[in-house]
Amino acid sequence: MDKKFQKIRDDFPILKQRINDEPLVYLDSAATSQKPQAVIDAVADYYQTINANTHRSVYTLGQQATDQYELARKKIQNFINAQFSKEVIFTKGTTDSLNLVASSYGEDNIQAGDEIVITYMEHHSNLIPWQQLAIKKHVVLKYIELTSDGQLDMTDAVNKITDKTKIVAVAHASNVLGVTNDIKKLAQIAHSHNAVIVVDGAQAVPHQPVDVQELNADFYAFSGHKMLSPMGIGVLYGKKELLEQMSPYQFGGEMINSVEKFNSTWSELPWKFEAGTQNVSGAIGLGKAIDYLNNVGMEEIAEYEQELVDYALPRLLNIKGLTIYGPHDSHNHNAVISFNFNNLHPHDVATAFDMDGVAVRAGHHCAQPLMKYLGVVATVRASFYFYNTKADVDKLLQAIADTKEFFRV
Ligand code: ALA
Repeated sequence: MDKKFQKIRDDFPILKQRINDEPLVYLDSAATSQKPQAVIDAVADYYQTINANTHRSVYTLGQQATDQYELARKKIQNFINAQFSKEVIFTKGTTDSLNLVASSYGEDNIQAGDEIVITYMEHHSNLIPWQQLAIKKHVVLKYIELTSDGQLDMTDAVNKITDKTKIVAVAHASNVLGVTNDIKKLAQIAHSHNAVIVVDGAQAVPHQPVDVQELNADFYAFSGHKMLSPMGIGVLYGKKELLEQMSPYQFGGEMINSVEKFNSTWSELPWKFEAGTQNVSGAIGLGKAIDYLNNVGMEEIAEYEQELVDYALPRLLNIKGLTIYGPHDSHNHNAVISFNFNNLHPHDVATAFDMDGVAVRAGHHCAQPLMKYLGVVATVRASFYFYNTKADVDKLLQAIADTKEFFRV
């Protein structure tokens, strides 16, 4: 399989660069993925040939832009197996999608005395909107605990989710611990208490097949930029019956049916939630990214990334003084690997890696409660995508060895 994926690298112009006189080894795809030429071309082509505002222009360009924008929505519908294309709302990204749910659904459906359940592994984007809603509405915010190896404690999930729970908000895959959660099971637990489940899919959709109907997620959020598309475009999937009863998130152009002096009525789904001029080139870029991912095959991507983890994790675990967060069994670990070593500050480590051309993220990864839970201030994080290879893992191992030597640890 390695050969096929070796060749894929050629589609990503940025990966041909040298950084600090070394070939770039990009290991920060959990922060944002690189973009293949096909996506870059699709965005340029949009601006070169059909740029016009959508849904408001009767002339040919306007119609073409609208058709392409709506075609992108259809591609996303098929990619995540939503039942209806109107269940796919374009947003700025995962954060925007989750804020939409907290604001629109949360405001209308939460009352004092209710409970919201999240987990200790949430990214701030699936934490702060619920925390702030809880403060505003005087509801209890509960955190599901983690097991000693950083997986979600499903026994605690069963205990924390009760008849008082109105919303369960959980990451499909952690952006720190390399774990993928059993959303189907969590949805069953939430639904058995008449709660809705809101899933942060930012770290899952780029890496594995996702079927929102199979998972039975009520809301599912993800970003385009982590799955080969431009920044500033994302998706909120929501079940039609829930989206229909929700109030708009923002007010303005194109989300209305009619506007009178003192009142207004709203457009149908999905446009009720798409106020103002949208990121049309981003949506078209995301559509192209989905074509690209489908062409490679999501099952194959998942299998290949597992191969990379199976190769990387035991070798990293073998390094003296290096602590890995999350499961140590590679079968329970996805392509996000967080670690610390020899009391070196993660920022120093990442800066030293950069001298070897290796790009990793260091910091709290927008997960400060998780850092506290782990008893650290920050970690180094290497995150892989299908354009990485075992040679990249070897470069990471070399960078660790060089860093140890540099700091004499
Ligand atoms: N959410 C992104 C990350 O984890 C930015 O790096």
